[in-house]
Amino acid sequence: CKIVILISGSGSNLQAFIDAAAKGELPASIAAVISNRPLAKGLDRAREAGIATAALDHTTFESRDAFDAALLELIDGYQPDLVILAGFMRILGADFVRHFRGRMLNIHPSLLPKYPGLNTHQRAIDAGDAEAGATVHFVTEELDGGPPVIHARVPVEPGDTAELLASRVLEQEHRIYPLAAQWFAQGRLVLNGNRAEFDGKAL
Ligand code: GRF
Repeated sequence: CKIVILISGSGSNLQAFIDAAAKGELPASIAAVISNRPLAKGLDRAREAGIATAALDHTTFESRDAFDAALLELIDGYQPDLVILAGFMRILGADFVRHFRGRMLNIHPSLLPKYPGLNTHQRAIDAGDAEAGATVHFVTEELDGGPPVIHARVPVEPGDTAELLASRVLEQEHRIYPLAAQWFAQGRLVLNGNRAEFDGKAL
């Protein structure tokens, strides 16, 4: 199973994939790491791991569609079985998403369907939620709305700041994301219509 990972920032989720592969917990190879920001720290992590990197600076494209088309071509060049969005902070258009339907996952730092979009931790704190977390989901045309694969829950502690809660959630992200990719690589996780299925059972 060949994976291409898309990043925009620190790449801590990328690092979790690199570490899982090194421990033999990921029956897949990371063919390339692609960032829309040429200076993303995650690119350094890929280089240190000897993984091919590419940067496609979205600010150098005339339009969102032009960027999406170039990114699609770049990814197809690696012929991946699975595309992993890991802290990738671009909204991808319907054509792009359709092209990778059923073989593109994202991780979102909330218990979807609660809090799609940004500032998820502060929103959970402001709402007085007792729990927060992260969700791995298949990517569909609906932003942060694709069929969930794995949820990870953490308690919101009294006096939590968004930063504190984010670090507690990130720890869980680094556990569930490589696990979801492992299931996909093992052929146990599929997108069937608009439902994710694990071992043939709806999730
Ligand atoms: C994480 O909160 C992740 O849930 C979101 O982007 C943030 C940064 O991820 N998608 P990373 O450290 O760059 O992997």
